[in-house]
Amino acid sequence: MRVRLSVNGASQEHEVEPRLLLVQYLREVVGLTGTNVGCDTSSCGACTVLMDGESVKSCTVLAVQADGTEVTTIEGMARDGEMHPVQEAFREHHALQCGYCTPGMVMAAVSLLQEHPDPTEAAVREGLEGNLCRCTGYHNIVKAVLAAGSAKEVLV
Ligand code: FES
Ligand code: FES
Repeated sequence: MRVRLSVNGASQEHEVEPRLLLVQYLREVVGLTGTNVGCDTSSCGACTVLMDGESVKSCTVLAVQADGTEVTTIEGMARDGEMHPVQEAFREHHALQCGYCTPGMVMAAVSLLQEHPDPTEAAVREGLEGNLCRCTGYHNIVKAVLAAGSAKEVLV
């Protein structure tokens, strides 16, 4: 089947197997390997990307379901050599250790902050509960998201 979509602002068009997952499409066909696969069973959130601005776990979406959409991955976050404010907040607040969960965590945080620009700590914890981190204990992740939120610069 043919899919046409925008990935980080660039048009993509490919012939794909109907069962190809969006995360496989992004990594193996488009060549953007920043989106990680942690579980393949929709539990960990490592594969989170934005589809038409909403965060989705790209291991739960077929590439053909993304036909006609605008997908944003972690590679689309930095602008003109500058990290996105949420990425910058993660760096500043030491919100990562091994970094495996980080691309998905950042994408989920961007989506959360677009909906709730100045969330409470409880709202951040609830908003990110679909994203697992095996390293950090979440404390600094929550701090980073709260800081990015109050910075009010979270638009993609
Ligand atoms: S790889 Fe998609 S949720 Fe874990
Ligand atoms: S930083 Fe290692 S899993 Fe989150």
